[in-house]
Amino acid sequence: MSASGPLPVVVLISGSGSNLQALIDGALAGFLPIVIRAVISNQADALGLERARRAGIEARVLSHRDYADRAAYDMALMALIDGFKPGLVVLAGFMRILTDGFVAHYQGRMLNIHPSLLPRFRGLHTHERALEAGDREHGATVHFVTEELDGGPAVLQARVPVEAGDDATSLAARVLMKEHRILPQVVRWFAQGRLRLGTDGLPRLDGETLLQPLRLDKLTTALKA
Ligand code: GRF
Repeated sequence: MSASGPLPVVVLISGSGSNLQALIDGALAGFLPIVIRAVISNQADALGLERARRAGIEARVLSHRDYADRAAYDMALMALIDGFKPGLVVLAGFMRILTDGFVAHYQGRMLNIHPSLLPRFRGLHTHERALEAGDREHGATVHFVTEELDGGPAVLQARVPVEAGDDATSLAARVLMKEHRILPQVVRWFAQGRLRLGTDGLPRLDGETLLQPLRLDKLTTALKA
């Protein structure tokens, strides 16, 4: 919580919104010093919009189908987001590739959650690809967003074992449980003013440069504070 109160946040979604729910619950529980000003979806039927409405949060739809191209859509999306004056934009299952102009506008204040141990498996179908590759370990990553799709500097990762008999559904469920822990943790650090993107393009937490992402299972009490 900064001197000016809870950090205003806008969350972008496209689907179920279980990561959004983790942020809503974290704010309600006092773990997250944030106020979610709005939830925006490019899909009108996203379940996450219902979660937002139930929590009394403004839920908006901006469909990419209503715009001629990506640039026009992103311009409209930026205008909608900026109307809520966020200090942080969170991509929580927002399934759109963003233009460089959009990313530059929110540089250093936009985070994404991705269901793999980046840089492994950027893009889609990460669980299927981890199974096909025979990986013994899989997981999720929270990173700052840059122009490089799923390539921005990673802050925190969580690992899960790939178990015998796993399919993409069972693996996805195990990873999602961890996502609901690492996304609120990173948002908390940012909202506390402890996490920033350095001018060198690397994350800095409590003044320390993160040359590689932290691991959820190795976080010290001090870091979790
Ligand atoms: C999550 O696995 C997230 O990592 C990915 O999309 C999924 C969204 O899940 N980008 P939900 O909508 O938050 O439940």
